Amino acid sequence: MSNRRDFMGIALGGFTALAGGIPALYAMKRSWDPLPSVKAAGFTEVDLTTIPENELMTEKWRGKPIFILKKSADMPQDPRDVIAGGARYHVSIGLCTHLGCIPAYFPGEKKFKCACHGGEFDASGKNTFGPPPKPLVIPPFKVDGNKIVLGEAGPEYLEMQKSGIA
Ligand code: FES
Repeated sequence: MSNRRDFMGIALGGFTALAGGIPALYAMKRSWDPLPSVKAAGFTEVDLTTIPENELMTEKWRGKPIFILKKSADMPQDPRDVIAGGARYHVSIGLCTHLGCIPAYFPGEKKFKCACHGGEFDASGKNTFGPPPKPLVIPPFKVDGNKIVLGEAGPEYLEMQKSGIA
């Protein structure tokens, strides 16, 4: 009789451990996986086809403003240009390299101006006036047809990095 009770106890204990263990393992695995929001935050895909020339588009990537400016034909070519779908773009992190203010774009002058201390950048993001010590920073990007993927270092970005532009 006691053998039968022992067996029932062991069987019930095993079943309980199994029943409780599987959800616990599943919960543990879920806690190790990155959250969907974290995965999505890593890359931002931007469709460039709708951007008008000489009009600044500001995207958000990893909590930072990203400037995307489609250059018009009269804007000088620059090694910092991003070529996608046959058009030229300026792409940069929209934070002034002096103390981190967000510069505004003035389409008439084709310049970025920082209201904080009067810093200026040209349409390629190069510092041209005032205290900013260096050009606007180019974020990692990958060209994918008419789209740009922010956060992924494609061959164009790696080339810029190699030549010290990005
Ligand atoms: S933060 Fe832009 S000029 Fe100072």
